[in-house]
Amino acid sequence: MSKLDVIVGIQWGDEGKGRVVDLYAVDYDVVARFGGGDNAGHSIVVGDTKLALRIVPSGVLNPKTELFIGGGTVVDPHGLLRELDALSAVGVDVRRVKLSDRAHLVLPSHAARDRAAEIARGQQALGTTGRGIGPAYVDRVARSGIPAGDLLHPEVLAARVEANVALGRACGVDVDVDAASTLAALRAAGERLAPYLVDGVSYLHERLERGERVLAEGAQGTLLDVGYGTYPYVTSSHTLAGGVCTGLGVGPTAVGRVTGIAKAYCTRVGAGPFPSELGDARGERLRVAGGEFGTVTGRPRRCGWFDAVAARYAVRLNGLGAVVLTKLDVLSGFDRLAIVTGYRRGGASVEFSLAGSPDLDIEVEEMPGWTESIGGVSRIADLPSNARRYVARLESLMGVPIEAVSVGPERSQIAR
Ligand code: IMP
Repeated sequence: MSKLDVIVGIQWGDEGKGRVVDLYAVDYDVVARFGGGDNAGHSIVVGDTKLALRIVPSGVLNPKTELFIGGGTVVDPHGLLRELDALSAVGVDVRRVKLSDRAHLVLPSHAARDRAAEIARGQQALGTTGRGIGPAYVDRVARSGIPAGDLLHPEVLAARVEANVALGRACGVDVDVDAASTLAALRAAGERLAPYLVDGVSYLHERLERGERVLAEGAQGTLLDVGYGTYPYVTSSHTLAGGVCTGLGVGPTAVGRVTGIAKAYCTRVGAGPFPSELGDARGERLRVAGGEFGTVTGRPRRCGWFDAVAARYAVRLNGLGAVVLTKLDVLSGFDRLAIVTGYRRGGASVEFSLAGSPDLDIEVEEMPGWTESIGGVSRIADLPSNARRYVARLESLMGVPIEAVSVGPERSQIAR
């Protein structure tokens, strides 16, 4: 029986998990997504092929790796089909994609509800991706959602769609939903998705029992977790490593290594607390140098310094054994860098749970930057001395080893 390793983002998403999973996937038989939906946008660059994956796991470019979309995810069946078609068009064998019967479907009404809720929130809008992720999880918890496995059972599917629409109406959800056309579209999607659908529990456990290696890939980041993130400015799923257990249907004893992915600075899309945010030219410089625009929505990302308070919180929540630091090259050329090392309120030191306090003060540690280009460095020990000091300082503030550092967007640009 093998253990399942986990990769999670430890900030607000967009840490570059996709490219790290892509790199690590060569050592695994299966890469499994355990939560979220097509609110995620993992980009992978190989040579001149750039792929934006939304729901298909990031190990897709390793021809031997199977790609499992687990029961904790919410899936727009039409979006999944579009993604499979796009992958096929560039020569990827998509028969390796497996969809758990326990994943829940995202319906057009969910996206409409998501957008209507954002308008109703007005000034307090969360800045969601508008993909219907929250309402799909709401319906799952309210027991009126539609598990993907029902796509294979037309009678059950019809009853579920009716019930979902009726419940929406009874709750006064004022969106334009047409049960008949939703059902017809789902039946058509179901026929095409049938070859990909599996009994998710048997699928995964049989592989673990055979000793195959499974890498569980998180979506979004720790600070967007519905329970432990900056609530209510979070997504609607458990993005923490703990989400693997319920998202894939495994016990905690099945989990092996947990690796966190952290960007060398911080970014956030959407509203919510961001203590290390830079509202000045330095933030703009990070945005431009790092290409910090949302993969799914195209929105400019908010940018700021690395926040070690948030990172320590994430180390605890995920039980991290190691961290991979991404986009260190983006910091090249800054005269001075800074790291947020503490939060204070009313003179007292406070923890990340108070990140949203209006009267929060931050403690900042400055460090000299480096001017050298680091794109060709393949060993951490060969980085310019100030870059090495920066990495070592983050490591000591987090209390977890940094096992690799990305120094450019290409697959090979990783220093270890
Ligand atoms: P939702 O997941 O669409 O409901 O959006 C909730 C919050 O999570 C918003 O602030 C989004 O910008 C953020 N979010 C959702 N998915 C991602 C992601 O993959 N990367 C970064 N932020 C995300």
